[in-house]
Amino acid sequence: MELPFAEAWKIKMVEPIKKSTREEREKWLEEAHNNVFMLESDKVYIDCLTDSGTGAMSDRQWSALMMGDESYAGARSFYELKNTITKITGFKYVIPTHQGRAAENVMFSYLVKPGQIIPGNAHFDTTKGHIESRKAFAIDVTIDEAKNTQLEIPFKGNVSLEKLEKILQENKGNVPFMVLTCTNNTVGGQPVSMKNIRETCELCHKYGVPVNMDSARFVENAYFIKTREEGYADKTIKEICKEMFSHVDSMTMSAKKDGLVNMGGFIATNNEQLYEGCKQFCIPFEGFLTYGGMNGRDMAALAVGLDENTEFDMVETRIKQVEYLAKKLDEYGIPYQRPVGGHALFVDADKVLCNVPKEEFPAQTLTCELYLEAGIRGCEIGYVLADRDPVTRQNRFGGLDLLRLCICRRTYTNNHMDVIAAALKNVYDRRETITRGLEITWEADLMRHFTCQFRRLK
Ligand code: F0G
Repeated sequence: MELPFAEAWKIKMVEPIKKSTREEREKWLEEAHNNVFMLESDKVYIDCLTDSGTGAMSDRQWSALMMGDESYAGARSFYELKNTITKITGFKYVIPTHQGRAAENVMFSYLVKPGQIIPGNAHFDTTKGHIESRKAFAIDVTIDEAKNTQLEIPFKGNVSLEKLEKILQENKGNVPFMVLTCTNNTVGGQPVSMKNIRETCELCHKYGVPVNMDSARFVENAYFIKTREEGYADKTIKEICKEMFSHVDSMTMSAKKDGLVNMGGFIATNNEQLYEGCKQFCIPFEGFLTYGGMNGRDMAALAVGLDENTEFDMVETRIKQVEYLAKKLDEYGIPYQRPVGGHALFVDADKVLCNVPKEEFPAQTLTCELYLEAGIRGCEIGYVLADRDPVTRQNRFGGLDLLRLCICRRTYTNNHMDVIAAALKNVYDRRETITRGLEITWEADLMRHFTCQFRRLK
């Protein structure tokens, strides 16, 4: 008999979690203004809000913490981190930052000017926020197929070269760089193929435009290239990562994802001018160049995390768990962005809560329903997150409206996945009876998603 699949690790430490009653959750959600970001984590049973900074470190990472060098300048831990990043990415200049958005802040402070255009395959919200707050424009050039959640294609995160070329042609001299996000979080943790990475970079370079890879989940992207793209099956994850980065000019990294740490980030490049430009902003915003926004011990743990996660067994364990949950949803007929992506399941709320009009935010409503059902916290990636158009101030209803269920790395077991699937099925079974959604009662001007307040309509 063939042996079944099992995790590439065993558990050394556990953290108890608590269930609650529906009555308690009704009260807590009301107090949180129907925004799950506002819930205290003790009031959550299974937390699928994000896979960012929520994973478990390994024994090797915990031991590396003890070896951290906290020197203000020239810390050994910085050089360990820098050498690991250079080994994996091929980039020799490294600027540590406290997280991904800080890397964006440092780099974009140097590169972005008002009125400029920055195309990208579905910029993440902080990326878009950092562009729009500088009065520049983030233009989405993802392939149209990404919007059809039921279409099964292997690289749904890809860039549309036609859309990209049109932007580059019409805005010559006004595009400081392009953002290539791997995997493409916003459309469902969907990967970008090596062919698309290469062709996107060739096209940008033809127009003299550099490409920055938003690399938060670059290892998951490499896993999909290995398992789905012709010619990569026999390459190691590390070889594929190196090739991915060989095409782009720079990277910004949220190490809280594929770096397997709870906090951290960095910028890396081989472009000396870019490095010099970013340095000026690192010192006032983040800290001295050999720690940026990080502790020495955190850099030490990150160096180990990057090395560990770029091994096939580790990333395979993670993707298999996400696939396990997806199979359960298939069994129950619940529609999600197909094929399942790297870090999360994105339930198509428009197709579940068909009776809730888009003006009442179906995905945010479904997020609340799932929490009320079982204390499971997901996250809306939809019309609330899309913010208002900066010019017209209208809600942007053009994209997908999804409930994202993120799977933390090395944190929950497949029994937890079974609970998530069952809770979702219970909501799905009573979907016809949910006819009203939510109304916004308060929102911030930019990135309203995190703090937005809602009223439940009856
Ligand atoms: N880029 C991508 C693709 C991201 O998914 C994130 C964060 C960032 C940049 C910013 O990094 O959080 O370290 O500042 N995504 C998290 C999420 C928050 O839940 O998807 P950060």
